[in-house]
Amino acid sequence: MQHRIVGTNVPRKEGPAKLVGAARYIDDITPPGLWHGATVRSTIPRGRITSITFPPSIPWDEFTIVSADDIPGRNMVTMFLEDQPVLAKDRVNHPDEPILLLAHPNRERLAEAVAAVQITYAPEPAIFSIAESLSKETIIWGEDNTFKTFHLERGEVDAAFANADFIVEGEYETGAQEQLYIETNGMIAEASSDQVTVWGSLQCPYYVHRALKAIFALPDDKVRIIQTETGGAFGGKEDYPSIIAAHAALLSIKTGHPVKMIYDRSEDMAATTKRHPSRTRHRTAVSRDGRLLAADIDFVVDGGAYATLSATVCSRGTIHAAGPYQWPAVRVHGRAVATNTPPSGAFRGFGAPQSLFAIERHMDKIARTVGLTAEELRRRNFIQHGGTTATGQTIVQPLDLDALMNRALKASGYHEKTAQFAKENPYSAIKRGIGFATFMHGAGFTGSGERYLNSLVAVDATAAGKVRVLVSSTEFGQGTNTILAQVVAEAMNAPYSLIEIAQPDTSIVPNSGPTVASRTTMVIGKLVERAAKKLLATLHDSGHLVANHTPDDLAPAIRAYISEHGELKAEQRYEAPGEIFWDDQKYMGDAYPAYAWAVYVAEVAVDTTTYTPTVTEFHALQDVGTVLHPVLAAGQVEGGVAQGIGYALYEKCVWQNGHMANNQMTNYIMPTSADLPPIRVYFEEIPFEHGAFGAKGIGELPMDGPAPAILNAIENALGIPFNHIPLMPEDIFERMLEPALA
Ligand code: MOS
Repeated sequence: MQHRIVGTNVPRKEGPAKLVGAARYIDDITPPGLWHGATVRSTIPRGRITSITFPPSIPWDEFTIVSADDIPGRNMVTMFLEDQPVLAKDRVNHPDEPILLLAHPNRERLAEAVAAVQITYAPEPAIFSIAESLSKETIIWGEDNTFKTFHLERGEVDAAFANADFIVEGEYETGAQEQLYIETNGMIAEASSDQVTVWGSLQCPYYVHRALKAIFALPDDKVRIIQTETGGAFGGKEDYPSIIAAHAALLSIKTGHPVKMIYDRSEDMAATTKRHPSRTRHRTAVSRDGRLLAADIDFVVDGGAYATLSATVCSRGTIHAAGPYQWPAVRVHGRAVATNTPPSGAFRGFGAPQSLFAIERHMDKIARTVGLTAEELRRRNFIQHGGTTATGQTIVQPLDLDALMNRALKASGYHEKTAQFAKENPYSAIKRGIGFATFMHGAGFTGSGERYLNSLVAVDATAAGKVRVLVSSTEFGQGTNTILAQVVAEAMNAPYSLIEIAQPDTSIVPNSGPTVASRTTMVIGKLVERAAKKLLATLHDSGHLVANHTPDDLAPAIRAYISEHGELKAEQRYEAPGEIFWDDQKYMGDAYPAYAWAVYVAEVAVDTTTYTPTVTEFHALQDVGTVLHPVLAAGQVEGGVAQGIGYALYEKCVWQNGHMANNQMTNYIMPTSADLPPIRVYFEEIPFEHGAFGAKGIGELPMDGPAPAILNAIENALGIPFNHIPLMPEDIFERMLEPALA
């Protein structure tokens, strides 16, 4: 199908404002009479608060102090389970947990005051690892330290193991990872006891809205959340903004002033969420000829001290744990467990990068055990069109993973390089290697999730003759505004410049759900497309627009319609794409409306004099349906691959008693452009009929593949299997020294 605007590289909607510095981020905004807020946090991982004192060195009468007792409604952050207080009252469960809030008109005065508050504790035993949590020697949450358990099982798993030629076992671990959005978290609140308004850097206005209603005991229309220009999020501004918004609003009520709270980098890194650390154990039954007979997978994520989003992160990880393979029998046991670190949270991929790292390292191990190449093992087991996923979902859309793999291996010169490196490595201190991963990412909310969300979007027209998109879906650098404007322009045969995006403000935009889960382009885009078509039909039916209109006809037609009828607006509510069945009890059925599929190939060089691994070239091939904006889509992939390289080789959170010790960008090292290889991006465009103009989700997919591809390449280079990330030079040093020490 020929498109006019979809598929072209139109300029970003908010691009010019960002380019000239006119875009206003939260810290650029200074309402009159503004005060500033700061947070006093726990310094121990777990225990009772025994006293709080305010030494006379600080003129406390200049400050406003807020404690849990100042909360008008419930001292609880509403997510899935209700366990996390807005402010700790009698006890703390992790380091850096908020206890008190301070406000002062002068921002410079806050740090000293925060440091001066003296809090004493009666410490209690704390735990910091998945192993400690699972051992249940110390119970820190509920009856068994477990937030949530998932179990999915299909086929005769135990019988398959009894008849297997090979049983291959492996254990794989992934670390925490900081989102490192460029703009740190920040909010401004203007609140009284009967109206709360918050502006801020956030992903999900209606999550904050829901949380604040309970905390301030206010009805829907008395809480208003407005997203300001947001400098990156990656999942990291999905849940924590509710807490900062509540804090700022509590201070605003008590001071009677608008209050701004901006986290600096070290506070943001220490106190807010990170990617869940994980441990995955695989046991696989395989036949002599390399057929996968059964999987038995145990997947555990470390949720930190409170439940937050851990159940859904664990769910996505559990569903993706078996990879893009056809299993006659499969069992996946997933658990999210508690430790006394700050709560883990959403980060691009949401559990899938963890479990896909495990399966894609494990596939290479199986291949070696059986005596097949990594490529041939996958070829014999790929899920096919008409095949079924681990949850029993039939793949009804076209799928040819063999063809995807062929194209990626050819583009990367995989076979030539494998041969070349094998020949050269014995004569070089720099060992080179090449490896790949084959994987998928389900787009949209899991299972019945989209139905429960029941998203609503609207499109209206302005008196000036423009068309405006009304959604709570937010732009945070990834391209929401541009993509949705393209979709509307295409659907209405309108000029791209005619389309505007309303600022996400809960008093204006309907609830189109959270901006997460690779759902915006595919799910919200489709709803916006339908709403735009309804708007167009109204213009046609009323006779204001001729049947075969040109883009230039639209603005005059809209102006004429509005001057005659007043409002012009169309809404669209979510409708399930075709027949989707999901059984929450059995954890079986159609987990996602669509999957994106990918083959990523990494080339590495390991310097055996410094033990430093470097990714030297990267090839990323994916089927994400129709590509709506090639430059933005390639940017999503390049950014995701860069984050994936960081996840694999650079970004290590160092913990001391549950507190992040390296909470600065000088010692938590992310790859810069100087560390990144050329990243070559390829799209296989297979339109998905239920996505906007054939698009599937793209946002999270690129985070899933790099880490296993890189570690597979490092094994190819060194002949040493590494099964944990981040993999640091010291880890390689230790393993390479082992034979010498033996
Ligand atoms: Mo996300 S990690 O679904 O914001």
